[in-house]
Amino acid sequence: MAITYYKRFRMEIDLDGSIQSPQLPSGFRWVGWDEELLEEHAQVKYRSFREEIDSHVFPCLGELTGCQRLMREIRRKPGFLPAATWLIVGPDTFVGTIQGVMDRGPIGAIQNVGVAPEFRGKGFGRALVRKALEGFYSAGLQRAYLEVTAENSSAVMLYRAVGFRRSKTLYKAVDG
Ligand SMILES: CC(C)(COP(=O)(O)OP(=O)(O)OC[C@H]1O[C@@H](n2cnc3c(N)ncnc32)[C@H](O)[C@@H]1OP(=O)(O)O)[C@@H](O)C(=O)NCCC(=O)NCCS
Repeated sequence: MAITYYKRFRMEIDLDGSIQSPQLPSGFRWVGWDEELLEEHAQVKYRSFREEIDSHVFPCLGELTGCQRLMREIRRKPGFLPAATWLIVGPDTFVGTIQGVMDRGPIGAIQNVGVAPEFRGKGFGRALVRKALEGFYSAGLQRAYLEVTAENSSAVMLYRAVGFRRSKTLYKAVDG
């Protein structure tokens, strides 16, 4: 079976008290972590990723059942951080999701950030990332990282705009 290698960047940022709590436009609000919201996180994750490059890199992101499984795995991680795990809800539906974990270091690790296609380009992705960084900082962390597929240029530009800088290049091998 053919193997595809996807180039990925690890990007990092220093955290300090300068992170300001991101505001949302009227009609939209933050929803903090609650065990009963696991399904909503999975659903908006699926809507955000199903047509995107990362659903090839991580096929579970291209299926609702895969997103549900992934959310359960993230929730079970020892460093799962509710303070860095958020949903944005709008007047009619959920708009975006982010989850954060405390990794060895300690360092904050952003797991997945996704904004549903119809809400993109309005600043929600940036707000989610800044909200998670604020959560890491409030948990006492001074640094955070994430990994992003190199050809996902909108995500790379978003992270650069927030202040992340590339620290390492990795290759992820995917079968088939
Ligand atoms: C990546 C993603 C979260 C961005 O969400 P978004 O709400 O559209 O992003 P924002 O509107 O907050 O954009 C913030 C900044 O990111 C950059 N950016 C985002 N989308 C961009 C695009 N299509 N082209 C160029 N720059 C873009 C810009 O710097 C932008 O700042 P600006 O508006 O001041 O120019 C969204 O496209 C998404 O969910 N993609 C699919 C899932 C995914 O790949 N997630 C990332 C996994 S690592």
